Amino acid sequence: MAMRIDGKAIAADIRREIAAEVTELKKKGITPGLAVILVGEDPASCTYVRNKTKACDEVGFYARQINMPADTTQEELLAQVEALNADPTIHGILCQLPLPRHLDDKAVIAAISPDKDVDAFHAQNVGHIMIGDHRFLPCTPAGVMELIHRAGVSVEGKHCVVIGRSNIVGKPMGMLLLHENGTVTICHSRTKDLAAVCRQADILVAAVGKAKFVTADMVKPGATVIDVGMNRDENGKLCGDVDFDAVEPLCEAITPVPGGVGPMTIAMLLKNTLTAAKGE
Ligand code: GUN
Repeated sequence: MAMRIDGKAIAADIRREIAAEVTELKKKGITPGLAVILVGEDPASCTYVRNKTKACDEVGFYARQINMPADTTQEELLAQVEALNADPTIHGILCQLPLPRHLDDKAVIAAISPDKDVDAFHAQNVGHIMIGDHRFLPCTPAGVMELIHRAGVSVEGKHCVVIGRSNIVGKPMGMLLLHENGTVTICHSRTKDLAAVCRQADILVAAVGKAKFVTADMVKPGATVIDVGMNRDENGKLCGDVDFDAVEPLCEAITPVPGGVGPMTIAMLLKNTLTAAKGE
């Protein structure tokens, strides 16, 4: 039976650690502040943003949610970012993606001050991650690394296969595994014989966005499997990118969905905001 890596419990531990630090910071007159911009009313984005601001409240941060209408212009959005860049009560700025199609997400990310870029999406922060002297780590890959560490799994010398090459997850994920001396393969939709590549993985990270994409024939017995997916199955039930019931018996360790990577992403956002507030 595989070890189930309990992201919900690990994230709760991290939130408690952060809340204790916030209590100390407040004695020095600093309250970490996070601004979350939501453009439009995409239901999934509304849920994600609500969860982020609620998590801020729970650890004692100041959270400001800025709702902008779906027909917001690029100029209006950039002006909002500029105002937050200049606001001393705000230490972290996050613009929830995806944006409505008429808006240029690259320009918005570039406009966020790198010192307040708690998503770590700005090119300057991405560059810091590449050379291994980061201040902020991107939340989802950082959450995956925390799960791997706290589950006692070593990356050193292991073959790590990441499925997905997005700027938000796949590419930085590969880099963080490489920094810990993993041998990294990043797979994508054009990868030839994906199943055979995945079967070589000691650590397999699935960030595909397709329900139950990773099947038992793609997993090496004894592997650690990390599921970044958040999908609905044919019955509308929340599920990951991994066919959990079929894959679990093969693994050494595996993350469930829900209760795996998801809670960690928010915990890492809080950690980045705390880092920004401390001016570290
Ligand atoms: N949309 C999906 N994931 C994320 C994330 O981590 N940050 C932002 N800003 N938008 C997202």
